[in-house]
Amino acid sequence: MKILLLGRSGQVGFELKRALSPFGQIVVPDRQELDLSKLDAVDDFVNKAKPNVIVNAAAWTNVDGAEIETESAYRLNAELPRLLASCAKATSSKLVHYSSDYVYPGTGNQEWSEESETSPSNYYGLTKLEGDQAIIESGADYLIFRTSWVYSARRNNFMKTMLRLAESKKELSIINDQIGSPTTARLIAQTTVLALRSQLKTGIYNLAAQGHISWYRFAEAIFNKAEFFDFNSALEKINSIPTKEYPTPAKRPLNSRMNVSKLESALNITMPSWEDELADTLEEYLEKK
Ligand SMILES: NC(=O)c1ccc[n+]([C@@H]2O[C@H](COP(=O)([O-])OP(=O)(O)OC[C@H]3O[C@@H](n4cnc5c(N)ncnc54)[C@H](OP(=O)(O)O)[C@@H]3O)[C@@H](O)[C@H]2O)c1
Repeated sequence: MKILLLGRSGQVGFELKRALSPFGQIVVPDRQELDLSKLDAVDDFVNKAKPNVIVNAAAWTNVDGAEIETESAYRLNAELPRLLASCAKATSSKLVHYSSDYVYPGTGNQEWSEESETSPSNYYGLTKLEGDQAIIESGADYLIFRTSWVYSARRNNFMKTMLRLAESKKELSIINDQIGSPTTARLIAQTTVLALRSQLKTGIYNLAAQGHISWYRFAEAIFNKAEFFDFNSALEKINSIPTKEYPTPAKRPLNSRMNVSKLESALNITMPSWEDELADTLEEYLEKK
């Protein structure tokens, strides 16, 4: 099998590169080799590579930046998946794509299922939703995994930001009214492999760890667990604040609770809790620091 993996340097892409290697030949262009905002070049590259599976872990992930650089965000998150889906359809290959909790309305306190209404709160969410819709409409064989609050030992993410700030700051204020499911890039990659092995039926699947938590509680858990790895914290106080006290260019959804039962029953698995995943990722990050 030949797999084309896009976004190899990203959180999810890095883990996918490792997890997919037993499947066969993996073609993994980096940004120097293939700028994904150049859609004609992408089209040429895919046609030459002739993959059986295209795995798209690349995206415009700067949520606040998407409000300003709208064209670039739209190209990566909406037009690129549209093109990849049309390539997959034309060559009868499979497209695996990653989407976001941000496509859901973000209100209330219920869990979002794949059948829930979509109504993004910000431009990033809108571009991700357009990407999903383009893939569905293409008629290609696809898997769309909607994930949330992704973190890993690499790149920028909430866990690493908290640890970096705690090294120098005595006091931090963290949001307490946005609730979601922190999900490791490794879990996303492992589940993708299972899905490919099990020939998971084409469709949209929520993919997140079990359990829901606020950013504030997640930060507390990060600091508590980091103590076991001799992490040197300067923190003396953590304040719990509502979203309205931390304005950002892009509006954030308050409710990112994900229901993952469709994926669990289709693959006959139980997703691990976010707490189980956190210790391993912290250890990996702090030990390589
Ligand atoms: N991060 C989250 O909290 C989160 C939450 C929900 C859903 N998701 C979705 O999960 C997926 C993976 O996210 P992630 O956190 O792994 O993303 P990430 O770490 O930001 O990685 C994004 C990848 O896309 C590549 N990329 C972006 N623009 C490119 C361009 N013009 N040409 C070539 N490569 C380009 C980046 O390459 P460079 O290294 O060269 O920049 C990087 O490899 C995305 O679809 C994202 O929307 C993420």
